[in-house]
Amino acid sequence: MGDLMYRPRRLRRNQVIRDMVAETKIKRDGLIQGYFVTEGKGVRQEIESMPGIYRESPDMISKTIDEDFRLGIRRIMLFGIPEHKDAMASSALGADSVATRTVKMLKDTYGDDLFVTADVCLCAYTDSGHCGVIYNDMVDNDKTLPILADMALALAKAGCDCVGPSDMMDGRVGRIREILEANDYANTLIMAYTAKYASTYYGPFRDACHSAPGKGDRKGYQMDWHNRNEASRELALDIEEGADIVMVKPALAYLDIISDFRAQTDLPVAAYNVSGEYSMVKLMAREKIVDEKTMVLENLTAITRAGADIIITYHLRDMLKGGWIG
Ligand code: PBG
Ligand code: ZN
Repeated sequence: MGDLMYRPRRLRRNQVIRDMVAETKIKRDGLIQGYFVTEGKGVRQEIESMPGIYRESPDMISKTIDEDFRLGIRRIMLFGIPEHKDAMASSALGADSVATRTVKMLKDTYGDDLFVTADVCLCAYTDSGHCGVIYNDMVDNDKTLPILADMALALAKAGCDCVGPSDMMDGRVGRIREILEANDYANTLIMAYTAKYASTYYGPFRDACHSAPGKGDRKGYQMDWHNRNEASRELALDIEEGADIVMVKPALAYLDIISDFRAQTDLPVAAYNVSGEYSMVKLMAREKIVDEKTMVLENLTAITRAGADIIITYHLRDMLKGGWIG
C-alpha cells in the first residue's frame, strides 16, 4: 500500500493521458520555411553543411516552391545570393536584384496564398561581407540606412508581404517604415530581427550565401551573447520605430530572450531556428546519434513553449513530408 498523496506520474501514465494534458503544441501556421535564391539558370546545389537545403536559381526555386506549396507550405523567407558584390551592395537594389525578381515571380503566381518575407541586409551583396557599408575601416551605421531602406522598398514594390531587416544597424526599422509609408506601401510588414546575437550558429548560412566577413567579425553591430537586458532595449526601440513582428535569433540558446519578449510585448514574437541549429540536428541524425523527427519536435516545442508565435525554420519541409505535425 502506498501512502503518497501527490503522484505527478499519474498524468504521464499513457499517451492518451499525456496528449490530454500537454500544454504546448507547435503551431503549424506559425512556421516559415527558408530558401536561398541565386542567379543563373538551372542551378540547384545542395548546401554541403545544410543537407536538404539548396541554392537555386529562380527557375528552379519556382519548381521547389510549387512542390512545397502542394505539401502545405504557405509562408516562406527568401535570401538572395548575387553574383556581383561591391562596396555599395549595388546588386541588392532595384527591380532586378535576384531576390526582388524572385519575389515578383512568386507573388505573380500565388498572390495572397503565399506569404513571402525577404531578408534585408547587405552582407551577401558587399565585397567586404559586412552587413553595412565601410567607411574609415568601420561599418558606417548612418550611411548604411538609406541603402537598407532602398532595398526594402524595392522588395515591397515587387509585392513582398514582409521585409526582415537583419543587419542590426541602429534606426533601420524606423527608416524602412518611413520609406514604405512615403511610397504608399503602408501594408508591407516589417519583421525586425530585434535581438540578433553575434552567433557561431550562423556558420552554415554564411557558407550558403558566401557572406562571411573577409575581415573582422559582426560583434560591432550584432548583440553580445552575454547580454539579456540589452535585448529589452532593442525591443523597445523596434516597437517605437514601427516593427510589426519582433524576432529573436538564434532560438535554442536564447529561449530566455524569447520568454522575455513574450512578457514584454503583445506584438507577435518570432524566433529564428538558424542554420547551425538545423545542421546540428541533421548531422547527428545522419550519424544515427539521435532520431531526427523526435529531436526536431522537441526543439520546436521548446521554442514555442518559450513564447514564440512564429518560427523560421529549415525543417518545415521535412516536417510536412513526414507528417510530423498535424
Ligand atoms: C544576414 C543574415 C544572417 C542570417 C540571417 N540573415 C547571417 C549573419 O548575420 O551572419 C543567419 C541565418 C541562419 O544562420 O540560418 N545578416
Ligand atoms: Zn548581414
